[in-house]
Amino acid sequence: MKQLLQNKVLNNWNLYWLISIPISIACALAMIRGDLSTGAGLLPLIEFSVYCAVPLIYLAFAASSLHGLFPSLFSRWLLRNRSIIGLCFATAMAWQLLSILWLVLVHTQFYLEEQYVLSDAIEGTVGYLLLLAMVLTSFKFGRRRLTPRQWKLLHKIGIYYIWAYIWSTYWWQVFSYPDPLPIDIIYYWAGFLAWGLRLGAWMKKNWQQPAVGRAV
Ligand code: HEM
Repeated sequence: MKQLLQNKVLNNWNLYWLISIPISIACALAMIRGDLSTGAGLLPLIEFSVYCAVPLIYLAFAASSLHGLFPSLFSRWLLRNRSIIGLCFATAMAWQLLSILWLVLVHTQFYLEEQYVLSDAIEGTVGYLLLLAMVLTSFKFGRRRLTPRQWKLLHKIGIYYIWAYIWSTYWWQVFSYPDPLPIDIIYYWAGFLAWGLRLGAWMKKNWQQPAVGRAV
């Protein structure tokens, strides 16, 4: 297992290509086979790219907490590759952005009549701006423009915001529709679990701190 997780193919940029190429091929095929000539035809494409992206953001969101609570070879690997997994998420979301732009710019009337909600559009745009800032500051040239404190703050706010946006979307799907899809239910509970891990890690850290203080 140790050797497998240390394999070059499963780390750093090789891991990025390993995850992003199949996702991009799947999204491109879905676009080629899909119906781009109507607004309604674009909705499954938007959903499909999000389905590909969501597990990745949940993994990145829970990585450090999983390692703090249940350290293992897998959690160490996940932590080591957390930013690569975040970049894979951004790649899948780029496919969503392409479908959204197609919907908004080509089928504007359908979008305005059937989909447009001002608060959703604002929240989604803020999500993309945060994601873009996180991507740019994942590289040296962007990272050096921020102090370590600013970088940490940006990435913390960004990942919480995007997690909350996605999780609340699935919360809405699960609790406001009579027959939610199994994948919506899975993504709702997986998002809850990812947050639960963060909460657990936070509690562990805060309960341990006074004990450490006493020892010193
Ligand atoms: C980082 C930013 C964003 C995130 C994380 C996000 C996330 C999501 C999620 C989780 C879904 C539900 C997919 C499903 O039904 O399974 C969705 C659908 C959708 N999103 Fe976004 N979104 C973002 C930005 C935007 C923006 C900026 C717009 C438009 C201005 C937009 C328009 C839509 C539309 C039209 C759908 C399809 C709704 C339907 O199927 O009825 N999103 N998005």
